Amino acid sequence: MTSGAATAAAGARLTLRGAVLGRAGAAVLDGVDLDVVPGEILTVVGPSGCGKSTLLRTLAGLLPALGGEVAADGRPVTGPGGGRALVFQEDALLPWRTVRRNVELPLAVRGVPRAERRAVAARWLERVGLAGQSDTYPHRISGGQRQRVQLARALAGEPRAVLMDEPFGALDAQTRAGMQRLLIDVLDGTGATVVFVTHDVDEAVFLGDRIALLGTGRVLDVPHPRDRARRADPATVALRRAVLASFDT
Ligand SMILES: Nc1ncnc2c1ncn2[C@@H]1O[C@H](COP(=O)(O)OP(=O)(O)OP(=O)(O)O)[C@@H](O)[C@H]1O
Ligand SMILES: [Mg+2]
Repeated sequence: MTSGAATAAAGARLTLRGAVLGRAGAAVLDGVDLDVVPGEILTVVGPSGCGKSTLLRTLAGLLPALGGEVAADGRPVTGPGGGRALVFQEDALLPWRTVRRNVELPLAVRGVPRAERRAVAARWLERVGLAGQSDTYPHRISGGQRQRVQLARALAGEPRAVLMDEPFGALDAQTRAGMQRLLIDVLDGTGATVVFVTHDVDEAVFLGDRIALLGTGRVLDVPHPRDRARRADPATVALRRAVLASFDT
């Protein structure tokens, strides 16, 4: 979020120039040009199968671009890491590790000493409201709680970019709204750049500073980001209509 960008390491700038995305012999998106501005939340929408997950996996460095340029802060993305964290829709926690040890994972990978790892994990679990569950195993908590653990794990590594692939897609409407508020809350002060894929138009309009309509090449500004009170403003209503219309083209 731009509001917190000044208080921490700046978020990453992610750039695609004429990028061809997909798997070898099966390009999904051709000629993608996109600039994700440091510290913004860019939501990404588009019909099923249009390549949203492909885009995120490419930005994460899990899938090489087939052509063109994909860069983070001007350096080509050649593999995972680089301060970019990925949060999946499906539960990507390790079932044999406790909640706390799942959150510690990115720190353990970086060789952060045990005591510090524990302290950081405890702090993030507290922030996502799961301090009391740290010694529990993932299968003993709810789907919404597991997504909160994933969020804590992603942020514990102090990422400069968080790439989120429909992270709240499997949650009921009320839990989802709570997670959206929590996400905004925990991002505050991190300065991290966020790319957030969703097929929920309201979620895209609420969370995003801008919305990328993937496949159309268009990126729309959100008039009142993260302001539920402005939901019925004419500009917001028009934006929602434009996003919905883009699904039919
Ligand atoms: N593992 C894979 N191997 C081969 N092709 C794949 C694979 N995963 C996806 N694809 C193809 O790539 C295209 C884009 O898939 P992608 O998962 O990026 O779409 P998406 O926009 O995320 O869709 P959804 O909204 O359903 O999640 C699809 O047409 C799919 O057929
Ligand atoms: Mg997908």
